Amino acid sequence: MPKAKDLVELSYLSEAVSDMSFLGLMRLLESARAFNLKNGITGILLYDNQQFGQIIEGERSSVMKAWKRIQEDKRHHRVELLEIREITERNFPDWLLRFYGGETLTRDYPDFSEIVGGMDKHSLTLMNTMRASQI
Ligand SMILES: Cc1cc2nc3c(=O)[nH]c(=O)nc-3n(C[C@H](O)[C@H](O)[C@H](O)COP(=O)(O)O)c2cc1C
Repeated sequence: MPKAKDLVELSYLSEAVSDMSFLGLMRLLESARAFNLKNGITGILLYDNQQFGQIIEGERSSVMKAWKRIQEDKRHHRVELLEIREITERNFPDWLLRFYGGETLTRDYPDFSEIVGGMDKHSLTLMNTMRASQI
């Protein structure tokens, strides 16, 4: 019998094929969020300097479905899995897909900073951890 809750968290890093425009990012988020909502996936997506960092969490089968979609997406490449691990509870329960753009994005699109609120301490730490683990 399957466990009632088989929660996993998946993290990866990737590089945008070309620098994403504001509209391009919005389109991506729209499609990603729609799938996540339907499949009970929550998480966080970071974008800065053409680099993506993402953590998604949910039931294993749903997360693996999203992971397949993510890997097949031609808007990014060098998709590098950091970790898939079992978790007992969600770290981002309320975030369908929280999005953070970094300095370069808010510089090029100043309006964006009002929407995403820039990076807070938590997401900056996360981004740095993700960057460090890339080496
Ligand atoms: C950086 C990045 C993050 C993504 N995050 C998600 C995600 O969280 N959930 C998901 O289902 N798809 C995610 N995707 C994949 C796209 O949302 C989606 O599969 C792709 O846009 C195809 O969409 P379509 O089925 O509407 O054509 C991501 C893609 C990229 C490049």
